Amino acid sequence: MLIRKTPDIRYSEVTPKGLYLRRREFIHAAAAGAIGAAATLSPVGTARAQAQGGRAKLPNVRKSAFSTTEKINPYEDVTGYNNFYEFGTDKDDPMRNGQKFISRPWTIRVEGLVKTPGSYDIDTFVKPHALEERIYRLRCVEAWSMVIPWVGIPLADVIKRLEPLPGAQFVEFTTLLDPKQMFGQRIPVLDWPYIEGLRMDEAMHPLAILAVGLYGEVLPNQNGAPIRLVVPWKYGFKGIKSIVRIRFTDKQPRNSWEVANPREYGFYANVNPTVDHPRWSQASERRLGEFLRRKTLMFNGYGDQVAGLYSAMDLRRAF
Ligand code: MTE
Repeated sequence: MLIRKTPDIRYSEVTPKGLYLRRREFIHAAAAGAIGAAATLSPVGTARAQAQGGRAKLPNVRKSAFSTTEKINPYEDVTGYNNFYEFGTDKDDPMRNGQKFISRPWTIRVEGLVKTPGSYDIDTFVKPHALEERIYRLRCVEAWSMVIPWVGIPLADVIKRLEPLPGAQFVEFTTLLDPKQMFGQRIPVLDWPYIEGLRMDEAMHPLAILAVGLYGEVLPNQNGAPIRLVVPWKYGFKGIKSIVRIRFTDKQPRNSWEVANPREYGFYANVNPTVDHPRWSQASERRLGEFLRRKTLMFNGYGDQVAGLYSAMDLRRAF
């Protein structure tokens, strides 16, 4: 096991070496992308981007009993330190490069083993559900963590409304594929578009939400506007951003990180301090803003609620 002196795992360590070495190429494309985007945005598009970039308050958000009482991280941490590889691989890239991303109008396609397949406008999709504030811990696989006041809707309520067929055992989520706007997708850092999945009972767990905001405001682009998944007992990479497709299936989806490196990233990705990442310990974490490391808790501290989902499984093999 590696003894670390640096506070966080670096990108070069998370990513296979071959891909890391393509970073120069990536930065090159990023620069070109910024210029390209500025040139192609119409005045209407720019106005729209600015309008949604503004910090609009979300109405009628009720507090949820599922929230932690731990100290919330400042807005700047939550919005300035992200992974969203579609906008670059450094932690401040999503904030810097995602500003012009257009997230309205937005359509979500519902497909597969479900009674109500079709294309749904984001607002129609979200409207039937009451907005809740859920203050959750986020533990990234890179061994840093934050406490984030999400605003969202219970995923279980959304799924019930969509009426999956009895054969549906998994739900797969897909991020927008749009290399024009998301210049990171021009480089094969991952097999685009980003895909994630949950087993149906995980997806139906009351802690799982689709987030549309944070800090009582509309979700900023870098956090996955206009809608993203939040599953607080799993490593952050399960929290897929900017979702355009929800597919119900009888087969376990192949999530992007598992496809990229199956030895290091699995389908379940439950926060588990007893299963080290092949290249670093998962026993502790650095909470942004704190000096000393904290012990990482099993299921990110949500064990009382979710351990039952995995009682029949060997979590060393199903990592
Ligand atoms: N979703 C997409 N589409 N692309 C990404 O690169 N990164 C994941 C996850 N969702 C990622 C993504 C990872 S590794 C983490 S830790 C979280 O987003 C971090 O973002 P957040 O702080 O906004 O939750």
